[in-house]
Amino acid sequence: MTGPDPIPHAVALLRAGELVAFPTETVYGLGADARNPAAVAKIYALKGRPAGHPLIVHLGAASALDDWASHVPDAARRLADRFWPGPLTLILPRAKGVPDAVTGGQDTVGLRVPGHPLAQRLLAAFDGGVAAPSANRYGRVSPTCAAHVREEFGPATPFLLDGGDCDVGLESTIVSLAGEPLLVRPGGISQADLESVIGPLRRAAAGEGPRAPGTTVSHYAPATALRLVERAERDPGYGPQVAVLASRPAPVGFAGILWVDSGANPARYAHDLYASLRRLDWVGADLILVESVPTLPAWDAVRDRLARAAAACAAEELA
Ligand code: TXA
Ligand code: MG
Repeated sequence: MTGPDPIPHAVALLRAGELVAFPTETVYGLGADARNPAAVAKIYALKGRPAGHPLIVHLGAASALDDWASHVPDAARRLADRFWPGPLTLILPRAKGVPDAVTGGQDTVGLRVPGHPLAQRLLAAFDGGVAAPSANRYGRVSPTCAAHVREEFGPATPFLLDGGDCDVGLESTIVSLAGEPLLVRPGGISQADLESVIGPLRRAAAGEGPRAPGTTVSHYAPATALRLVERAERDPGYGPQVAVLASRPAPVGFAGILWVDSGANPARYAHDLYASLRRLDWVGADLILVESVPTLPAWDAVRDRLARAAAACAAEELA
């Protein structure tokens, strides 16, 4: 690294109640001191996020769990042992003193120990919880590199720790252990891997389980209309103004604006997905066609985000 270490300055800002954007292995986060409601309010203001949506509290180590959760079931300890630091968020009953600003007034709190080295250093030096949603404006695509964060907030971008590209590229897997174990949001850790540690886990149905803005349709959508299709050429919108995301090369003679071939490896596809959606959104197409991905478990998280992006666009078309 060239230049001075940015961590002490980032910690000073957090302590002063300011925001810091930082990398995690999933996506970039927009962080504030989770014990400081005024600081947390700045997250909502900058994102344009409606109040009452809970935030994930990022911790340096699982040993801090008991400071934030009133009860840590055995299953939560086992998942933390196995997958932290990593792309897993646990929803647990909140401890006394966790601000309503963080939990959205709910009696649960979302907790995660991220694995990115810069996040780890930040959290270790801060020695407290950092509340952070993804560092994007409300309802838009999450940022997976520092440039995306600047694209979102422009001159209003807070102090930003640049940790390069996020490895996973999609938001963390969310598991609720506040009641019946529920898979709330698929992500970087698969259902099978979770079940190998805690046994059967039910996937929350739409609208079920804890309230979660990332589980509403207004999320993860580019501004351009987006449609999920089996095969791009068969869609009536396929033409010169179209941009396509697929797992295969462009067909011979493709005459649209842009064809992105994200390949057939689900981890790679996930890693690139939000950057691909940003590119597809920027080229001035009338319509983004996304070819559907396999219905195999390895594609669960990607399929989930694509379905949400398409649903959000459908909702906007109706509105
Ligand atoms: O990978 C990630 O999870 C990224 C990085 C920055 O950690 N964060 C992220 O934050 O995606 P956000 O706010 O965009 O999504 C967090 C999700 C939301 O769906 C939120 O509702 C849910 O976590 N969540 C947080 N606390 C919760 C709680 N107490 N009950 C239910 N859902 C909760
Ligand atoms: Mg988000």
